[in-house]
Amino acid sequence: MRDFFAQRTSWNLSPNRYTEALEAHRRAGSDVLDLTASNPTTVGLQYHEEQLLQALTNREALIHEPQPKGLLSARQAIAAYYTERDSHVSPDDMILTTSTSEAYSFVFRLLCNPGDVVLAPAPSYPLFDFLADLQDVKLVSYELVYDHGWQIDFHSIQMAMERAAANGSRCRAVLAVHPNNPTGSYVKTGEMEELNRLCAPSDVAIVADEVFLDYSLQTEPPPTFSSNGDALTFTLSGLSKISGLPQMKVAWILVSGPEVLKAEALRRLEVIADTYLSMNAPVQWAVPVMLEERHGIHRQLMYRVRENLAELDGQLAAQKLCRRLEVEGGWYAVLRVPVTGSDEDLAIRLLRETGVLVQPGHFYDFADEGYLVLSLITEQQPFKKGISRTLQFIATTNS
Ligand SMILES: Cc1ncc(COP(=O)(O)O)c(C=O)c1O
Repeated sequence: MRDFFAQRTSWNLSPNRYTEALEAHRRAGSDVLDLTASNPTTVGLQYHEEQLLQALTNREALIHEPQPKGLLSARQAIAAYYTERDSHVSPDDMILTTSTSEAYSFVFRLLCNPGDVVLAPAPSYPLFDFLADLQDVKLVSYELVYDHGWQIDFHSIQMAMERAAANGSRCRAVLAVHPNNPTGSYVKTGEMEELNRLCAPSDVAIVADEVFLDYSLQTEPPPTFSSNGDALTFTLSGLSKISGLPQMKVAWILVSGPEVLKAEALRRLEVIADTYLSMNAPVQWAVPVMLEERHGIHRQLMYRVRENLAELDGQLAAQKLCRRLEVEGGWYAVLRVPVTGSDEDLAIRLLRETGVLVQPGHFYDFADEGYLVLSLITEQQPFKKGISRTLQFIATTNS
């Protein structure tokens, strides 16, 4: 059986203990206080429903216009979004895709031969492993370290590049998640410069994932990678987080960097996109309206993230066992908890004994045990109750 399928799909598909525990809990009819909720369409946000639905009925969509980069009107609306961030990008330097995941696949296809290395931060977003497997890319971690805030460990990037070279493989790209999921840390201006300094002379591209860029808790708006000019740079983003519309399947790749490289990258990406033409017409015509939706969604989500963080901090102030790590932006908070076993065991016990669902840090490849990940876009009442039960449970088990 195993020989029948490609090696790249030989994943262990049996459910892990955490998933099994959740299924058993639900089967038993027990309630779940879900502090992992990250689907913006099911956390009680108000959308301009009529406007969104109406935008999807544009008659222009009855004509098939096969444009590999995506409809110009959609790309122009996205370029205007960057102008508001002081980044003047051309719609010509943009390719629309159906998701950031598809954008990663296109970029990996463009840059990597089978077995080539791409560096990704740890801790970070677990889907990278699958995206890399599917494109025959070897994903190697570099470290983010925490010391009163998260920083990129540049030594670990350099070591990973040298190790790849010593093994006869080539490092083709460094992924930068800006801000990162779940650490909520932005790439600082000095770190952007350092990334350029490392990548540009070694012909290594930067792939910047900016899906959470707008959700900053800082006073200064964070700069985007979209105008980065030293290294060849692919900036990925989309409406799933910007406008809270993951079901609409709109994302993009922006290419910047040295002119000759940028032009060649765009020519080749256009062929990849032309091969699939995966964007559909009604959604592309609706992009300007869906982008407008971001104002209301951003306002609601920032309010919720701030309220939940204040609630968390208030409850944490009344105890000494747990603390939260610094958050600069994004939708998640990381809770540092006493280590009494694995984080997965803790999350499973928490679910079974209190009905609270959180994610264990190891899902995101934290270097050690003692981390739980909470979604800050959870509705406020369940968040408050869930945190209270979590801290009580930890206090009881450590007394
Ligand atoms: C860092 C990061 N990038 C990309 C995505 C997915 O975006 P999309 O829905 O556009 O594929 C997520 C989803 O949670 C994410 O956390």
